[in-house]
Amino acid sequence: MCPPEHFEVSYSINPWMEPDKPTDAPLALVQWDRLRARLVSLGHRVDVVPPRPGLPDMVFAANAATVIDGRVLAARYRHPQRSGEEPAYQAWFAEHGYPVRQAGFVNEGEGDMLPTGARILAGTGFRTDHRAHAEAADHFGLPVVTLHLVDPYFYHLDTALAVLDHEEIMYYPGAFSPDSQALLRELYPDAILADEADAAVFGLNAISDGEHVLLPQSAVHLTESLRAAGFTPIAVDLSELLKAGGAAKCCALELRESLPSTERRREPS
Ligand code: ARG
Repeated sequence: MCPPEHFEVSYSINPWMEPDKPTDAPLALVQWDRLRARLVSLGHRVDVVPPRPGLPDMVFAANAATVIDGRVLAARYRHPQRSGEEPAYQAWFAEHGYPVRQAGFVNEGEGDMLPTGARILAGTGFRTDHRAHAEAADHFGLPVVTLHLVDPYFYHLDTALAVLDHEEIMYYPGAFSPDSQALLRELYPDAILADEADAAVFGLNAISDGEHVLLPQSAVHLTESLRAAGFTPIAVDLSELLKAGGAAKCCALELRESLPSTERRREPS
């Protein structure tokens, strides 16, 4: 994670970003720190990457890379406003002993690449280049399933779909092309489906450790569905970061030592 010390909305690269609207960096920092502390209290280790001035979106660590088995495929951003984040995160990985390869095509890391137990679900349409999917498949030796995003408000896969554990996901169908919706139905017939209202408050930009799911309280129906499915929903408020088009999941890049475990950690309800 990377603290939003230099957070502001000074440009617009997605429809949520309105540079004329005021932002409150100290409040963003307080909300971010609550998320960090919550993850730590759940037993997760959180490494903090030093923020750099002039990179207001650097708080969205999830976009910096995809990490599986300790191997890093580092991001290549679509927009020049974010390309300064590339060397900043690569430096952190290098200093911490990770072998890093930078993507050859536009690839916004876990914004668009979501590893599950058996495959990587990969988004394209607004940010990550379709060709980056084959590159990721090759780099990690895993099958990659391409999903086409069609609604600019859900410009990254992680705004429209969350991996809950190795085989379960939740998603908002309206964010995907008809073909991708059909594919998701086939691959995940038991998925939790989000309605438009819950998707619009970034309910799908959730962090799941297979047991706890951190998401905004305003995602009311999703919260109920998660509880009914045996997960423990935990409310987090990231209203400031929402002004930049990001929420919980965007703030945390997972350093997977291996693929999500195949064992179920939660009790059936
Ligand atoms: N302002 C950032 C952008 O548009 C927000 C990124 C949010 N991150 C995410 N994983 N969806 O690039």
